[in-house]
Amino acid sequence: MLDTHNIRSQFPILMQEINGKPLVYLDNAATSQKPKSVLEVYEKYYTEINANVHRGVHTLSRLATEAMEISRKKIQKFINAEKDFEIIFTKGTTESINLIAYAVTREIKENDEIIISYLEHHSNIVPWQMLCERTGAKLKVIPMDENGILQLDFLDKNLSEKTKIVSVNQVSNALGIINPIEEIISKTRKNSAAMIVIDGAQSAPHFKIDVQKTDCDFFVFSGHKMYAPMGTGILYGKEKMLRKLNPFHGGGEMIAACSFEKTTYADLPFKFEAGTPNVGGNIALGSAVDFIENIGHENIAHHENQLLNYAQEKLLEIENLKIYGEKAKKAGSISFNLENAGIASDVGMILDKLGIAVRTGHHCTHPIMDFFNVAGTVRASFAIYNTFEEIDILAEGVKKAQKMLR
Ligand code: ALA
Repeated sequence: MLDTHNIRSQFPILMQEINGKPLVYLDNAATSQKPKSVLEVYEKYYTEINANVHRGVHTLSRLATEAMEISRKKIQKFINAEKDFEIIFTKGTTESINLIAYAVTREIKENDEIIISYLEHHSNIVPWQMLCERTGAKLKVIPMDENGILQLDFLDKNLSEKTKIVSVNQVSNALGIINPIEEIISKTRKNSAAMIVIDGAQSAPHFKIDVQKTDCDFFVFSGHKMYAPMGTGILYGKEKMLRKLNPFHGGGEMIAACSFEKTTYADLPFKFEAGTPNVGGNIALGSAVDFIENIGHENIAHHENQLLNYAQEKLLEIENLKIYGEKAKKAGSISFNLENAGIASDVGMILDKLGIAVRTGHHCTHPIMDFFNVAGTVRASFAIYNTFEEIDILAEGVKKAQKMLR
């Protein structure tokens, strides 16, 4: 049995009151809180080490470089990548997807096709639209049904030699729905030579990732949603893909040789890491990986699934409450609206007065909101430190909001 009390005590921010009530933090899909171990590593870097990496022979520079490279290896192991240089540090999922979408430009021709799904965050829509504008390629979208379940027969009809990229998320940020990426990948491999990009921003914090088993070409995620500082993220790419692609950013540290006539690029991973990286953040991301692994992926998934099932049960007891994607398999988040009382942001503001932090609005997923014909939803999202009592407080808060807004 997980000792949630002990886990909570490692998160100083959770000890405070908001609006005179104990903080109930249920906005983990937007960003998770950070444990002391991660905060200490971050502070230690800036108080004892702070130096640029891969640039100096002096002691501090060596220490910073060693610590960041140890962190890279931890992340390699965390997602079971074959090689450490397949791990590129970025500032988050959005930057990772933009990096890929830019780097593949030369590979994409007019009338090529890029497939995404209806359940994507804007960050897995807009970079591909921009690529289409640059190249004349076409964007196609896997449709979903009223339960938020993707209709994969679309792939049988649409995958072809024209398909160059398939990019989907593993878990929807707006609805928490787990997408069948294994089936999407297997259909894509059978029917095309497309590059496969998996957006793991909402899956990496919740369950074990194995990029070799998954057999995707790229896997991207953010550190700040998995207990690490903001401004940290990862782009995993298979070696052969990363070698084939051109860099996105040009600058220091990504060159082998540079003259006014010609520049040659550095080897992996540095080819994709121009400029000074977020060294302290990247080191702290390694510490967040330790935090997750010390608790254990299975324990995390089990606890969060129980919270999610309990939340669904408690919320469905409330009359006129609609859960989006109620019948789908979910991880981490639950999205809902009170159909007879106010709009999502009204509910969110009342919950805030009760010390409960949830996200309200469109969650950077306009197409999903348009599909359900709503301006936004209330989203409660869970992390390892959340408790069943907090779900009870949420359910009571929603009932109170309903009474006030009706
Ligand atoms: N993508 C984050 C969310 O879903 C910010 O809230």
